[in-house]
Amino acid sequence: MATTEDRSIEGSADPTANQSVEADDRPLWVFGYGSLVWRPAFAYVDKCAGVIGGYSRRFWQGSTDHRGTPSAPGRVVTLVPEETGRCWGTAYRVSPGHRASVLANLDHRERGGFVRASVEVRLGHERVADRVEALVYIATNRNPNYLGPASEIEIAEQIRISHGPSGPNIEYALRLAAALREMGAVDEHVFAIEALLEAAGCG
Ligand code: SIN
Repeated sequence: MATTEDRSIEGSADPTANQSVEADDRPLWVFGYGSLVWRPAFAYVDKCAGVIGGYSRRFWQGSTDHRGTPSAPGRVVTLVPEETGRCWGTAYRVSPGHRASVLANLDHRERGGFVRASVEVRLGHERVADRVEALVYIATNRNPNYLGPASEIEIAEQIRISHGPSGPNIEYALRLAAALREMGAVDEHVFAIEALLEAAGCG
């Protein structure tokens, strides 16, 4: 039986859905909630803080290619479906001319277990009217690198000792927390892990 998590991405996991994203000639919106918040590293024409509903951000995805290795995975964030969840991040508008190259770049960067999905993003802090449909990369519980829940103490410890080709896992967690704070967003899970890392002398 499909779980809530399975159902939430079932349409976008279809490869033909990806083809229609590529073929679309409208500007593309990409919603980043992890490293894409503080290091987009792709061409965009506009960016704005935004929030999505129905998901919570959790350090539940194993990273074997960026912040860890196959034998010692780090932990990065993914979105977990939760009815009352809210997740702040950054929405980027990509011009039609850059759509194909940005999608190819992001598919490669997020290849360690993330799949494309579609979310509605409410832009800005105060405005309620500006909503856009955005592409987001989600690592579900069906990918081989998925680690799932653990206590925040265990998560912080795994982050503290992990290191991968993109650098220390600590950098990922602390830069994400700093970027969220800078945009005025609150994420208790991310901030709890930041506090544990700082208490352990990191940062
Ligand atoms: C994202 O940032 O939106 C995807 C997850 C990651 O690369 O950290």
